[in-house]
Amino acid sequence: MAKKVFIKSYGCQMNVYDSARMADVLGEDGYARIDDPEDADLVILNTCHIREKAAEKVYSELGRLRSLKARGTRIAVAGCVAQAEGDEIMRRSPYVDLVVGPQSYHRLPAMLAASDEGNRRSAIETEFPVESKFDFLPPVKADGPSAFLTIQEGCDKFCAFCVVPYTRGSEFSRPGATVLEEARLLVEGGVREITLLGQNVNAYHGTEGGLAALIRALAAIDGVERLRYTTSHPRDMDDALIAAHGEVPELMPYLHLPVQSGSDAILARMNRQHRAEDYLRIVERLRAARPDLALSSDFIVGHPGETEADFADTLALIEAVGYAQAYSFKYSARPGTPAADAEDTVPEDEKSARLQRLQALVNDQQLAFNRASLGTTTEILFDRRGKHENQVAGRSPYMQSVHVDCADAAEAARMFGQTASVLISGAHANSLTGQLEAHPHNNQVKELQGA
Ligand code: 5AD
Ligand code: SF4
Repeated sequence: MAKKVFIKSYGCQMNVYDSARMADVLGEDGYARIDDPEDADLVILNTCHIREKAAEKVYSELGRLRSLKARGTRIAVAGCVAQAEGDEIMRRSPYVDLVVGPQSYHRLPAMLAASDEGNRRSAIETEFPVESKFDFLPPVKADGPSAFLTIQEGCDKFCAFCVVPYTRGSEFSRPGATVLEEARLLVEGGVREITLLGQNVNAYHGTEGGLAALIRALAAIDGVERLRYTTSHPRDMDDALIAAHGEVPELMPYLHLPVQSGSDAILARMNRQHRAEDYLRIVERLRAARPDLALSSDFIVGHPGETEADFADTLALIEAVGYAQAYSFKYSARPGTPAADAEDTVPEDEKSARLQRLQALVNDQQLAFNRASLGTTTEILFDRRGKHENQVAGRSPYMQSVHVDCADAAEAARMFGQTASVLISGAHANSLTGQLEAHPHNNQVKELQGA
């Protein structure tokens, strides 16, 4: 009987990608991925270290999983907490069998074999290995119409608040040829949309011409309908990439471009290496290239040294840009980062108050953005099943979540994995609703599928 593995992902999309790749590696070792930890022979928590809250979740989840040990379930901790706190995990939760960092999970089968033999010395792998895990992973398996593809990892930017340079290591780009090969496999498996991932994805240098050249090469692959990339740093938004936004129709008009703060004083303390003005200029140039570009960003409130005036600058920047979406966080001091040495000057309740004010503004912008879609006809890629059996859900080019009621369950099942025109009839803060258009393109899809 096949062995079963349950993998839970925390944190960013790269962890989602890594979890899928761990499943691929373990698949070769006879494991099938399942959705219920209770039935698993192996449970893996793929963890995130970005903020204290994220990291603490691991220990509470481990506490809950402990009862599974009685049945012989093995427990592994992977990801960024594993990288940063491997020894502490083993000390605080001695029933954990394996700890594996984000650059070492290709070694999981060997680690499991060693653990079968009772060898505890191989239970922790958190060195940055000399080999690249990508050279040891089996070919990807497509799962649904939309896929992540990691092309770059690590970061050399050293923002003062951020653990990523320490957990993911220094910047590394996968060679263009292997990226194209992986993309072809995904498309053969039914993938229509690829999101290129990297902690600093627009610093990609695995092919001549950087990310812009890679995007053009990917767009030329038959069957690639949609391309996205995330997360970008403003400093690496070069002319060629900005031009690609205007010239490559497959590149979707949505960009996550974190700015973190709108205050030059705080941007300097954060070591972001740009001013608010530089960011606004980049946004202007992007919109000149692609007028309908929707933007999203990350913001940190309450960074050490942030005054009310600095925070007002952040609100002003948000007003100036007009976001379709944004993610915002209270500053959380992370051990080992330069900002953690500075005094945490903003009291917790002030951080909460600023976060609320910022989120109220962003929510208004998001709702306004969604309302502007009312009455339009938009191409939706259906990549999820809806809540009800006659419903199907997908994404607009602008990353909006769109729910559509179909005539019946059969039609909903047929639409999954397809791109179709949808007339948008409802707009909420976080999603849209609409109806399938009786569009020639949609009819054609149905005919092709024998409907
Ligand atoms: N505290 C709060 N938020 C943080 N982020 C990164 N580090 C911290 C921290 N120490 C946020 C940033 C980043 C996003 C992924 O998480 O906004 O862009
Ligand atoms: Fe979290 Fe950063 Fe690691 Fe992603 S790379 S899991 S966001 S710490």
